[in-house]
Amino acid sequence: MGKKVSESEVRSEIIVLPEDTNMFGDLYGGRLVEWMDNIGSITAFKHSRKKVVTGSIDSLFFLSPIKLGYIVHLHSMVTYTTKSTMEIEIDVSSENVITGNKNVTTRAFFTYVALDESGHASEIPEIIPESDEEKKRLEDAKNRSEYRLQALSNLRKNLN
Ligand SMILES: CC(C)(COP(=O)(O)OP(=O)(O)OC[C@H]1O[C@@H](n2cnc3c(N)ncnc32)[C@H](O)[C@@H]1OP(=O)(O)O)[C@@H](O)C(=O)NCCC(=O)NCCS
Repeated sequence: MGKKVSESEVRSEIIVLPEDTNMFGDLYGGRLVEWMDNIGSITAFKHSRKKVVTGSIDSLFFLSPIKLGYIVHLHSMVTYTTKSTMEIEIDVSSENVITGNKNVTTRAFFTYVALDESGHASEIPEIIPESDEEKKRLEDAKNRSEYRLQALSNLRKNLN
């Protein structure tokens, strides 16, 4: 049985505090990736209702910095599924608390693998795209999935 994108889509907001920033007053990239992985895993849990691990992160682009005191908006949704993996797109934007101006800052695709109780890859529901946008995202994701599998296979070969 499949699951709709909307059943696991998550949005959240967080304000950038001094401990999240470097000496220039910008949000650490690593902290943002942690927040992205956190929201991505929530989407993966909601879609699979199984234990999940982060398998890979690709096309992670930091387009502009996020400043201390800004609100960070995170949006996470499943774009593609295979037998036991979920590709999850995470989009980030920042908001100036005084002016309300928003700016898209970051996008990445996280792939989570669902596991059973013995730690083996485990089957998950197929994604059911409804809107035209969701259908387009799924088509685009197929190319990324092929590329990712090839990259994984090359890496495994090179390490052996
Ligand atoms: C991800 C992991 C569970 C895969 O284990 P594995 O024994 O190689 O799994 P399999 O080869 O049976 O692959 C299972 C599926 O995951 C996919 N996959 C495996 N490793 C992957 C990776 N690193 N990235 C993306 N997809 C991956 C496979 O293509 C396969 O897809 P399918 O469902 O379409 O068949 C294992 O490599 C692992 O535990 N990695 C560490 C995860 C981790 O610690 N993450 C950070 C903290 S959460």
